[in-house]
Amino acid sequence: MAVSTKPYIGTRDFFPEDTAFRNWMFGVQRDVCRRYSYEEYAAPIVEPLESYLAKSSEEIVSEQMYRFKDRGDREVAIRPELTPTLARMVASRAQSLPRPIRWFNIGNFMRYERPGRGRLREFYQLNVDLLGSAHAAADVEILMLALDVLRGYGAGPEHFEVRFSDRRLLGAAFPDRSEEALRSLSRLVDKRDKLKAEEFDDLLAAELKSPGERAELEALFSWSIDDLGGRSAELDPVAENLAFIQSQLTAHGYQDSVRFDPGIVRGFDYYTGFVFEIYDRDPENRRALFGGGRYDRLVGLFGKEDIPAVGFGMGDVTLENFIRAHDLVPKDLAQPEGVFVALMSDDLREDTLRVGLQLRAAGLPTELSLEATRKFGRQLEQAAKKNRRFVVILGESELAAGQVTVKDLVRGEQESVPGDGLIAYLKRAAGG
Ligand code: HAM
Repeated sequence: MAVSTKPYIGTRDFFPEDTAFRNWMFGVQRDVCRRYSYEEYAAPIVEPLESYLAKSSEEIVSEQMYRFKDRGDREVAIRPELTPTLARMVASRAQSLPRPIRWFNIGNFMRYERPGRGRLREFYQLNVDLLGSAHAAADVEILMLALDVLRGYGAGPEHFEVRFSDRRLLGAAFPDRSEEALRSLSRLVDKRDKLKAEEFDDLLAAELKSPGERAELEALFSWSIDDLGGRSAELDPVAENLAFIQSQLTAHGYQDSVRFDPGIVRGFDYYTGFVFEIYDRDPENRRALFGGGRYDRLVGLFGKEDIPAVGFGMGDVTLENFIRAHDLVPKDLAQPEGVFVALMSDDLREDTLRVGLQLRAAGLPTELSLEATRKFGRQLEQAAKKNRRFVVILGESELAAGQVTVKDLVRGEQESVPGDGLIAYLKRAAGG
């Protein structure tokens, strides 16, 4: 029996057309990150297991991690996310890196999930992080950058919504709870939209001590930023931060895309304050497009010093669903391009190769026919199938007269061009 051609469950093969689409998606992200002066970095796809054990997401660590012992008996994980790796890298050079550190990465990650709409086992994420500033201005910058990535695809407030909050609200609403009990409650609240209402209610009843606490939680979900001030000494700085974020976004024209939502808590234990998620307004695409927030105590786990940090991760699977659902794929993504040089007979092989090399040296993407055929139609067909824009034909009689024929497959025109003017002709025609 033949070996299966299917990739491993929940992963994708990227054929050239898929890769072209992906490169375009990543290109927009790189462009926006550069405009904000973020530097690109990279990291290994495997990481010592301990990087995740202290403070990641319990669900990821206990259920979704690809983990194994290597041949040297070391506990290793294929990275399910980048934030612990980033914290480790920054901690390793905490003294020498100029701050604030503004870094981004586009990479692949693996989580052992049940594959479905918006969820795979291997996915890509854009990670953007700002470390070294505890000011809410850093939160605003990260959020604006995230919004500008979506704007880069031509999306607007009619397509998506950012919901933001602060993790400390839950602690302020339940001041008597231990940190561990609060974490457990946060995880449950994080799953609220993913669970059936009755299931959530049952779990909540087990988590909360009294019906009074349930009422308190419901009240928290209905708070507005204005309701937060003057309630308690712990809550005041949180309210101030949130009001600052809201006012900055409003002052600079981002207000229609954002909404304060106290139900946003995020599932990772390392988040310490501001948190946000971005959702498609299309109800079919229910998974978050991005998620992020502030994690001021993660770097400290890897070194001596805490470094305040904020950032987000944006997945390619939900993003692609979003882009396609809203018809935001640019029409010119798969335009014919480049030159196909036909080989009309074996006697012309050397001349054909010489011309091909000249075109390549001039920077024109050029594909050479490897097999000779006098059937011109077949060569045109081949060039069209490969999505080339021009076909260059060297015929014996034309070569003798110093001419070549160029067919433009987009315009459907054919012209005889002097051999020494071919490069200039093609460059001009490709530009027009
Ligand atoms: P996260 O919410 O786990 O956050 O992931 C961020 C985004 O990655 C999600 O909104 C989703 O688009 C995508 N994603 C996650 N898991 C999958 C999956 N199985 N299949 C497809 N897409 C997926 C983090 O990973 C944080 N480390 C983000 C962060 C960076 N926080 C601060 N800096």
